[in-house]
Amino acid sequence: MVVNKIYGVFFSPVNNTRTMVKKVAGELAKRLQLPVEFIDFTTPADRGQGWKFGKEDLVVFGTPTFAGRIPNKILPYVQTLFEGDETLAVAMVTFGNRNFENSLIEVKNELVNHNFSPFAGAAIACQHSFTEKLATARPDEEDLRQIESFIEEIAQLVQKTEKKEDFMTPVVVPGDDPLTGYYVPLGVDGQPVQFLKAKPKTIEEDCDHCGACAAHCPVEAIDFNDETKVPGTCIKCQACVKVCHTGAKYFDDEKFLSHVKMLEENYTRRAKPQFFIGAKEKVYGNT
Ligand SMILES: Cc1cc2nc3c(=O)[nH]c(=O)nc-3n(C[C@H](O)[C@H](O)[C@H](O)COP(=O)(O)O)c2cc1C
Repeated sequence: MVVNKIYGVFFSPVNNTRTMVKKVAGELAKRLQLPVEFIDFTTPADRGQGWKFGKEDLVVFGTPTFAGRIPNKILPYVQTLFEGDETLAVAMVTFGNRNFENSLIEVKNELVNHNFSPFAGAAIACQHSFTEKLATARPDEEDLRQIESFIEEIAQLVQKTEKKEDFMTPVVVPGDDPLTGYYVPLGVDGQPVQFLKAKPKTIEEDCDHCGACAAHCPVEAIDFNDETKVPGTCIKCQACVKVCHTGAKYFDDEKFLSHVKMLEENYTRRAKPQFFIGAKEKVYGNT
């Protein structure tokens, strides 16, 4: 056994990645009878410090996929807040049933760049932040069965491995290396659409100024003194829409809505979760 403590580290505006990292790190800790600690770097308030990990830690590190990559406004934090010391790691991404393209390889490469040893990786299909119609209620039972097989295989590997060197070759995951650009969103007519400037609107009579949207915004785009104002650059993560207890937040940008409709029309097939350990893709089920 080469590990003494498990960490689950995540950025997760609408909780899919949080749930998945907690599941993998938490179950791994249980199976290995080790302590577990979770580190959430979703909001600016969470990012006031950096974290160093040791040679006997194992870190499960996850982000969602935004436009086929690590969310671009969050990449600088991934690159500066975390440092390993030949620390074993599991690279994880979630994605909303379209494609994860380069997000998993980007997470893996950032871990390598910061002195982690990512020996395993997973891309988990989850309900899309933009719409309940894509990957509705996923991960479901079949996904969870596969995720548990992945956790079991990692736990056995850690248990039976005596030498750290056996984990030193980074996991092989799909994606472009060197990385290529971000996925360009398409509208319902199949043409590229730009909605970088889209921001959440507020149904003013429904807003009770509880402040939850401003507090949960990962980039502090929303005015803390007047939550109906969005002076900062919105990353469209939907945290404010999901956290609003009166349902007062919404997006009405036409191009954004056209992209959502395109996704709903074209990505109804069931995207598979994918798992990787060492040089191999691991297939635990049919779907
Ligand atoms: C701005 C944005 C871009 C996204 N881009 C993609 C994508 O390229 N491919 C995909 O399958 N899902 C995409 N999604 C869906 C999310 O990856 C998915 O819902 C994820 O599980 C959300 O994670 P969270 O719950 O931790 O915030 C995107 C979501 C957002 C908000």
